[in-house]
Amino acid sequence: MLVEFRPDARLRSGKPVDFAASVGPVVEALRADTSGPAADLSQVRVVCDWVQYRENFRDIVDVRPILAQPPAGSPPTGAGTGSVEIAVDVRRGGEVDLEQLTAERLAPAGDQRLLLEDWHPGTEGLIWGFNALYWSALALWEKSTGRGYEQALPGGESDARNRAASRELVGQLFAVWDRLADSGALPEELYVLELGVGNGGQAKVFLDEFRTADLAHGREYYRRLHYLMCDYSQHVLDLARETVAEHLEHVSSFALDATRPTTSLGFLRYKIFLVYTSNVYDNLPTDEVAQLGGRTYRVQTRAYLPAAVAGELAASVRVAPDELPALVRKLLRLGPVVLADALPEQFGDVEAAVQFWRRTWAGLKLEERYVPLAGLDLYRLAPSVSGEMLRPLLESGADLRMHVSNGAVASFTDSLRLLHPFGRLICHDIFVTDAQGYRTNFRGPGKYDGSVVNWVNGSLLAHVGRRHGFDVHYAPFAHRGGGHIVTMTAQVRE
Ligand SMILES: C[S@@+](CC[C@H](N)C(=O)[O-])C[C@H]1O[C@@H](n2cnc3c(N)ncnc32)[C@H](O)[C@@H]1O
Repeated sequence: MLVEFRPDARLRSGKPVDFAASVGPVVEALRADTSGPAADLSQVRVVCDWVQYRENFRDIVDVRPILAQPPAGSPPTGAGTGSVEIAVDVRRGGEVDLEQLTAERLAPAGDQRLLLEDWHPGTEGLIWGFNALYWSALALWEKSTGRGYEQALPGGESDARNRAASRELVGQLFAVWDRLADSGALPEELYVLELGVGNGGQAKVFLDEFRTADLAHGREYYRRLHYLMCDYSQHVLDLARETVAEHLEHVSSFALDATRPTTSLGFLRYKIFLVYTSNVYDNLPTDEVAQLGGRTYRVQTRAYLPAAVAGELAASVRVAPDELPALVRKLLRLGPVVLADALPEQFGDVEAAVQFWRRTWAGLKLEERYVPLAGLDLYRLAPSVSGEMLRPLLESGADLRMHVSNGAVASFTDSLRLLHPFGRLICHDIFVTDAQGYRTNFRGPGKYDGSVVNWVNGSLLAHVGRRHGFDVHYAPFAHRGGGHIVTMTAQVRE
């Protein structure tokens, strides 16, 4: 049996985690389970995490099959033995009788959970439908909770609105433009692109600072500026346009998927001087992969509701629990406004539909299993990026499970195509910049209000960026101390 205790720093913290109390009861339950999935103890992994997100997709104890072969219909892989991982959230372990809960989770069919979908790689799961719904119907969610989305971000507000950071950025842009202008190489149109604009707070701060700096600088860059605000939520774009009302002459908005900006902006290839994004990469779909005992696996997930949650939720809208999966799909397809219109028996008004959405999301959990990967070269992690890019990280030492950040890699590589040779891509986000960071901390997914958050695989982005001829640097966000936000800068290698 292998025990991996990831939050080792917490064993020595001011309020130390009790290792024996976190692991002992789990092992006791495993010892007693002689006929279930953990019958062969030599094939068992016990993995302990500190799941820092209060709202998350994990049970306190999860049992994850490690498949020997991919499910029927997938490409075959080499031989392997089936085994099992018992995952424990040590932050909440003390809230329950851990031995009993582990025994219950090991008992086949002991738990009548309601499945909402079939197995999928992480990128294709139902949670991304919830994530998109959150941004498209943000006003309804915020009205219902009485909280704005920024309150769920680290620090309670977005670093994107930091004035000092914007001023510095503008100063750097002006320095590049001055040099180009002096040699007659500065184009007339000066393009800046922001992906994932939220309420437009960053855009406003940037544009305000830009205009002020331009007045002092005196080279009329503001007159030539085109600020392109992009988001996949029309509602968010409308909000952001209101926020930047006084700069509208310089602003265009595009409803587009941040993972494929060139589909709408291909005409700006090599023309954009700044691609800016903050707190977006951590909100884009991702798979997870793992290297366990020398074999590579992709994590598959499926969403479920615990039996008690499903029972209450079904009763609240007067349907049978087994009708819930179809109702949830309808919610994701139609949104709460149309759903309330379409099913007046279930939802007296729009707020009732929003309540259903919020309660479903609050109760939603993910089961996980490990499926062998046929070969890294056969795994396309983004449209133009082979799974081979993962090899140096996966083979960097002991067993490892990490995010692939597929959406972030896709957005990053596609955005690089738009950059002017002297342009830069700047991204503020929560990055894991060293593979070791996956061996010690839980990196998601968690729930930020109605959205999904996963840390971004910074080592992978840097590796991919270098392969595309870019230098990629990470530095702690310089304008606020103590947070986890890191600034990534990518520019053409000199
Ligand atoms: C957490 S907010 C960040 C907003 C802002 N940049 C900030 O830092 O405050 C994430 C933003 O990304 C947008 N977003 C998420 N996924 C997207 C996608 N696939 N394509 C375009 N926009 C997306 C959301 O609509 C939302 O506006």
